[in-house]
Amino acid sequence: MKILILISCLSLIPLCSLFLKVCTLKVSGQCLGNEQSSLLQLKNKLVFNDALSAKLVHWNDSANCCSWEGVTCSEGRVIGLDLSNESISGVLDNSSSLFNLHHLQKLNLAYNEFDSSQIPSQFTKLSNLTYLNLSTAGFAGQIPLEISHLKRLATLDLSIHSYRSTYLLMLEKPNLSTLVQNLSGLKELHLDGVNISAKGYEWCRALSSSLPHLRVLSMSRCYLSGPFDPSLQNLQSLSVIHLANNQLFVPVLEFFADFKNLTSLSFTSSKLNGKFPEKIFQIPTLQRIELSDNSMLQGSLSEFPWNGNLRTLQLGGTFFFRDIAEFYW
Ligand SMILES: *[C@@H]1O[C@H](CO)[C@@H](O)[C@H](O)[C@H]1NC(C)=O
Ligand SMILES: *[C@@H]1O[C@H](CO)[C@@H](O)[C@H](O)[C@H]1NC(C)=O
Ligand SMILES: *[C@@H]1O[C@H](CO)[C@@H](O)[C@H](O)[C@H]1NC(C)=O
Ligand SMILES: *[C@@H]1O[C@H](CO)[C@@H](O)[C@H](O)[C@H]1NC(C)=O
Ligand SMILES: *[C@@H]1O[C@H](CO)[C@@H](O)[C@H](O)[C@H]1NC(C)=O
Ligand SMILES: *[C@@H]1O[C@H](CO)[C@@H](O)[C@H](O)[C@H]1NC(C)=O
Ligand SMILES: *[C@@H]1O[C@H](CO)[C@@H](O)[C@H](O)[C@H]1NC(C)=O
Ligand SMILES: *[C@@H]1O[C@H](CO)[C@@H](O)[C@H](O)[C@H]1NC(C)=O
Ligand SMILES: *[C@@H]1O[C@H](CO)[C@@H](O)[C@H](O)[C@H]1NC(C)=O
Repeated sequence: MKILILISCLSLIPLCSLFLKVCTLKVSGQCLGNEQSSLLQLKNKLVFNDALSAKLVHWNDSANCCSWEGVTCSEGRVIGLDLSNESISGVLDNSSSLFNLHHLQKLNLAYNEFDSSQIPSQFTKLSNLTYLNLSTAGFAGQIPLEISHLKRLATLDLSIHSYRSTYLLMLEKPNLSTLVQNLSGLKELHLDGVNISAKGYEWCRALSSSLPHLRVLSMSRCYLSGPFDPSLQNLQSLSVIHLANNQLFVPVLEFFADFKNLTSLSFTSSKLNGKFPEKIFQIPTLQRIELSDNSMLQGSLSEFPWNGNLRTLQLGGTFFFRDIAEFYW
């Protein structure tokens, strides 16, 4: 009896796989013709290295575009495109057929080499974007005002993480405050390496007045200066604050201890001074604190909660004291 069942099951395998195929097609949908041709036009206009491309190089008309690597569909419409690290070079211009993919919700073009060209203003046409990642993509110059029209964005990553790059993105006109003014749904903002050149009251108020749901604030190497504006404490959802390599020349204020969800705090090489508030170490959720290379910063570990969640504590190049009577190293 058992053997019989096994045999009949085996004979069903081709049927099963056919069924599965129909199912997967139904989930992502048959690619709509205009979406497929927009993607192929996009591919044909992009300059990329066949040997280094893992996705684009395989796109071709013989298959439904919803099955192409890097493409995500919903009911035949392209809603996600991940072309990160595809060795794309050259210029992405306003006429690119990328901007015909109106249904896009997630777009990742990170780690390419867009030849120090400007971020095209036509991004404004992708009004359904919730996730935009242009990190280290090779864009340079002024970040266009049109990015501020993408009102559904939850994640915006324009950070630059390449030390070999000479290109530089800037936020001057529009400035940070104009950029984020209408992006009130933003949860993650990554602008590391972008020249923001703002004073504390400017960047703190820009963020605190517009981004009530912000969880990740990553603005290392942004030419920011102090002082911290108390309005920053309105951002109660903050979990990550990365402000390394700025020129703050101020003390960290006590209110940082009131961020109840803080997990990671970095001020490496930020020219902090004064006394670091010991209360910050008491935040129960905190896992990582980086304070290295702030030669004017003092602090004490005498009330350090040794049984907390903290995994990483970097204090090299600072003046921290321990209560020797209590702790022997
Ligand atoms: C065309 O796409 C199909 C399905 O994705 C793939 O198997 C095939 O290798 C591709 N052809 C070329 C020339 O890349
Ligand atoms: C990009 O892809 C190359 C292989 O082509 C890999 O070695 C490298 O680690 C990738 N870089 C990133 C940032 O993913
Ligand atoms: C944008 O998203 C909304 C809500 O998710 C949806 O109703 C609308 O059809 C989308 N627009 C496009 C062009 O995909
Ligand atoms: C942006 O894309 C890069 C490469 O895929 C990834 O490492 C990075 O985490 C992404 N940023 C965000 C905020 O998701
Ligand atoms: C896109 O068009 C705008 C004007 O509509 C222009 O200012 C900008 O330089 C263009 N960007 C690119 C990358 O061609
Ligand atoms: C933000 O939205 C308001 C109201 O819709 C509008 O008047 C303003 O110009 C927008 N700001 C930016 C920078 O787009
Ligand atoms: C950054 O921008 C400011 C003004 O917006 C400018 O004065 C400064 O030279 C820029 N810094 C770099 C490194 O380009
Ligand atoms: C940012 O730009 C807007 C519009 O140009 C301007 O009104 C505002 O004063 C600027 N903010 C700062 C802090 O420079
Ligand atoms: C803090 O995190 C918890 C758990 O992730 C979440 O439920 C809560 O809403 C967060 N608090 C704020 C103010 O965002």
